[in-house]
Amino acid sequence: MKSSYNSHIKRIVLGLLIFAVVGFVAKMVLTPKSFGKYGPYRADAIDEEANQEIRHMTNASCLSCHPYEANIHLTGLHKTISCEFCHGPYADHVKAGKVYGKLPVKKKEEIKVLCLRCHNKAIQARPGEVIKTVIMPEHLEEQKVKVSHTCDQCHHVHAPLKYINRAKKIVGIKEKS
Ligand code: HEC
Ligand code: HEC
Ligand code: HEC
Ligand code: HEC
Repeated sequence: MKSSYNSHIKRIVLGLLIFAVVGFVAKMVLTPKSFGKYGPYRADAIDEEANQEIRHMTNASCLSCHPYEANIHLTGLHKTISCEFCHGPYADHVKAGKVYGKLPVKKKEEIKVLCLRCHNKAIQARPGEVIKTVIMPEHLEEQKVKVSHTCDQCHHVHAPLKYINRAKKIVGIKEKS
């Protein structure tokens, strides 16, 4: 029953052998050094992740250097909002406890855009009971002011209702005719 036509078997075995050797060498060469030290992952990845620069901090981290703004912020309806949402990441501003870069301070039209990111009624997904929203320019028309007014002319950016009665008064006196 023995057939002499077995060259195809030899070729398959040789092929598998080469495959196994190449695979083994590739595994030796390509596996990172610390792989498998603790488990099926790169042990060095833990340190690398832990040593990444911290980009974001809490509002408390701003307090020591900006007590004026931070204390106003704490008294108002915006107290739960991160300073960084409006000003950018801590890491762009402070390094090793020292001021390192300038954070942008938004002005005029930019402020409008910023406020409407959370307070625009057009964002249907935002539940109205959680964050009150307005329609622009209707909101300004209701106050009987020019639609070129920006939010910070009536709302304190850090505590939005802090001076609202004063704003109402001014608006009422100035713009009614
Ligand atoms: C180590 C002290 C320190 C910390 C911490 C700090 N700041 Fe400042 N910040 C300063 C100083 C000093 C300036 C003024 C820098 C300048 O004018 O060049 C400044 C400027 C700013 C400005 C720009 C003001 C302007 O008129 O240009 C903003 C906005 C600001 N900081 C926000 C923040 C926020 C938000 C945090 C927390 C995430 C923070 N800062 C944390 C010291 C600090
Ligand atoms: C809802 C957005 C918002 C939040 C939250 C916010 N800010 Fe501001 N902040 C602004 C805007 C807008 C201005 C610019 C106001 C202007 O010039 O009319 C500003 C101005 C500033 C300035 C510069 C003051 C000046 O007149 O140069 C500092 C410093 C500052 N904020 C710090 C903080 C700190 C610290 C926190 C957190 C405790 C914080 N802000 C939270 C929007 C915000
Ligand atoms: C990150 C989202 C966010 C941004 C940006 C933001 N707000 Fe707010 N705002 C809130 C939240 C949250 C509240 C508080 C809701 C609550 O607790 O009732 C609030 C409350 C308010 C209120 C009081 C509404 C009420 O309950 O009567 C006003 C007014 C207001 N913000 C105006 C502004 C203005 C002006 C700006 C731009 C300088 C701004 N907001 C930027 C989230 C935001
Ligand atoms: C001319 C003054 C004025 C300007 C400018 C203005 N507001 Fe108002 N806003 C008011 C007054 C007044 C109220 C009513 C506050 C109260 O008594 O509860 C109000 C209320 C709000 C409320 C709460 C709405 C509610 O349903 O209770 C939000 C949110 C708000 N404003 C966001 C903004 C935003 C965002 C901007 C800029 C795009 C802006 N406002 C510009 C005067 C103004």
